[in-house]
Parts: sequence; C-alpha cells; structure tokens
Amino acid sequence: MRVLVLSDLHSNGTALDAVLDAAKQRWDLSVCLGDVVGYGPDPNEVTARLRELGTKTIRGNHDKAVSGLMATEDFNPVAKVAVDWTRAQLKPEHMAWLSALPKGPLETDGIVLVHGALQDEDEYVFTPEQALDGLLDSNAIVTFFGHTHHQGGFSYRDSHLEVLQIRPRAAESFAALRVEQARRYLLNPGSIGQPRDGDSRAAFAIADLDHNVVEFWRVPYDIAAVQERMRAAHLPEPLVQRLVAGR
Ligand SMILES: [Fe+2]
Repeated sequence: MRVLVLSDLHSNGTALDAVLDAAKQRWDLSVCLGDVVGYGPDPNEVTARLRELGTKTIRGNHDKAVSGLMATEDFNPVAKVAVDWTRAQLKPEHMAWLSALPKGPLETDGIVLVHGALQDEDEYVFTPEQALDGLLDSNAIVTFFGHTHHQGGFSYRDSHLEVLQIRPRAAESFAALRVEQARRYLLNPGSIGQPRDGDSRAAFAIADLDHNVVEFWRVPYDIAAVQERMRAAHLPEPLVQRLVAGR
C-alpha cells in the first residue's frame, strides 16, 4: 500500500494541485499532518480538496488558531493577520471540519502521524535530542511529523540517532529512503504550501512500507500566481515574499 503523506499545506491551492499531479494517483490512501490553512490565499479550496480526497487529517496549530481552539498570542504578527483573514474567509462547513480534526499522535495503517512532536503537538522538532524524546515510545517503525516545514528526519538504532539528509537535489524530483525493520524513523515530508528548508518547491512524501521505501518528493509550482492572489487579498508582504526564497 502506498500512502501519500501531505503536511503544512497552508492554504496554497496551486502547490497542492502540483503535488497531486506529480503523485498521479499512484497511491492508495492519503494522510495529512496538519496546518491545512493559514498564510496562503486558498483556505476554502484546500480544505474542500482534502475533504473530497478523504484524507485522514490531524490538526496543526494554525488549524487550531483559525477555529478558535488556540489563542494567537504566541503567533508572530504576520501569522496572526493571516489567521484572522482566514477565519473571515472560511465557509462554515469547512470551519466545522477544521475544528473537529483529531489531535496527534494518530496511529493509522501501520504509521503514526503527529503535527509537531510525539510528546507535544505544538513542539518544533529540529534537534536529535527533541527527536529522540518520544521516538522510542511510538507504536510504529515510521512516525511522520510536520510543523518545521523542513523535509528530512531522523533514524534510530542501537542507541544511535542519525540525522537523515534525504531531500532531492535541484535537478531531481524525488529521493528514496530504504526503511530497515530494526530502526525507528521520525520523518518529515516537508511543507506543501510554505517550504522553509531553502527549496521553494512543494514537498511531500509517499510511504510504501510493504516495500520498505519512503519517497521524498519536490515539485515546482506557479509561485507567482499564488503571490498575486495573496497580494489581492492584502495578506502580509513577508508571507508573499518568503515563498520564492523557500525560507
Ligand atoms: Fe505549518
């Protein structure tokens, strides 16, 4: 079974379309690690698409903020502007769907899904210490996480934690990771709607655990078209510009 792993879509409909085109329906089931909305110009379109696809989705901090389940005091000012704008745009049925999203960790189809960390859905996992904290408690060989918008992850075996540099290079669209049964993995598919790892292409993953492979993908999309819609919506300019930098 091939599982399409989506994360941090952040209301970017053009990037999501590019991802689904690249994945070409060569998957059996789709999952999402949260942050469906926030930052981008297409909250209704992106939410509707996930609902149509029947994507098993857990909540991210932006989904919580938009649906009023989390205060925005800790959000930076531009993120807060986007949360307020998104709240005003969302159709009630999509708002209801977002506010009912389950919290991670969620175990499904042989993998575990979390938005931030296994031990805290809102924690950013950047360091091996943070990755190790909780990894050994996971019920699956492979746990997927999002939130940092950095594609890659960590693997663990025999008291040794390894940082995985698995992002496809500029001329490539995917890189494959071979999964060893004796290891534990904490893997980030990267962000679809607002990558921050220096590569502006939309990021996602496909997990084929029957064949012990996880594919990490990057696909280009029409960033200028998204920026135009963001400016028309008067979303903050730093959010518009960071899409090109991928930071
Ligand atoms: Fe995010």
